[in-house]
Amino acid sequence: MPIHKIMPNFTVDDYYRWWVVHLWVELTFELFAAGVLAYLSVALGLVRRSVAERIMLFEIFLVIATGTLGVGHHYWWQGADEYWIAIGGVFSALEPLPLIILMVEAIKEQKQIKEMGRGFDWGVPFLWLAGSAFLNWFGAGWLGMVINTPTIGYYSHGTYLIMPHGHVALLGAFGYISYAFIYMTARANALAKGLVWNESLSKWGFWLLTIGVILYSIPTMIIGLHQAQVAYELGYYATRARDILVAMEGMMWIRIFPDGMMIVGGAIVLYDLLEKIYFSRKIKA
Ligand code: HEM
Ligand SMILES: [Fe+2]
Repeated sequence: MPIHKIMPNFTVDDYYRWWVVHLWVELTFELFAAGVLAYLSVALGLVRRSVAERIMLFEIFLVIATGTLGVGHHYWWQGADEYWIAIGGVFSALEPLPLIILMVEAIKEQKQIKEMGRGFDWGVPFLWLAGSAFLNWFGAGWLGMVINTPTIGYYSHGTYLIMPHGHVALLGAFGYISYAFIYMTARANALAKGLVWNESLSKWGFWLLTIGVILYSIPTMIIGLHQAQVAYELGYYATRARDILVAMEGMMWIRIFPDGMMIVGGAIVLYDLLEKIYFSRKIKA
């Protein structure tokens, strides 16, 4: 392990790079996200503690088993042996399984909330929680599977096809969990101090960001498929040339709409949180 000196070797360098990328996002952080989701659902009174604990134990087992060996889906491209393609492919194909369980839990919780009626105080934090479970499944699970099979991964490595996966997964799984935390604290603060709590701006921010990031994945996928086809026909080196992307200029410009939605949504959320935390007035008695 290059701790005391730098090793000028691509394989060694890239090997540890994937420890940082893969073992954090697909193992450690995923465990953290599942734990936070379970903890907050119990705290909001939506799931019984014993049920959450059982699900978590099962998830810990699944995430560790799939995430650790799943790292093999990166090894071939840094010069490791061919059998890693098979090991990585098989185990990371199982990686979305815990995500699907999270998703099923979130849907069940949402149903329970609807049954509880309108008096639920924690609607906005819950929206971010459910959003996190869904985008985790969509970004990490579904868009991850798109690039995960060895034959696709071979041609799509390092192209635009990886972009929707990385971005939707990261924002959804970890960004949305953070939003849920902040909104939860803001809501507790507002309840304790009797402050005004208006949900409409929060919902606008949430939906603009969420629909924006889902739509953003369409043009980037189309550009990525084109690049992967070029890699198949001409070789990987050809996909690095800027000229290859000229044919895709229209798709690049279309991104103004979804990317614009995300920027506006993000700004609304920031404004909404600052207002709710620092400038909210007391409810008139
Ligand atoms: C929240 C969880 C996840 C996050 C945040 C995430 C993020 C990322 C990022 C940022 C990259 C690009 C890294 C780079 O090129 O430097 C990447 C690559 C990749 N991810 Fe994920 N990922 C997640 C889960 C998954 C899952 C569940 C799968 C499998 C189903 C998966 C399969 C892949 C593959 C195959 C690549 C390599 C693409 C290539 O060879 O260029 N990821 N991921
Ligand atoms: Fe990975």
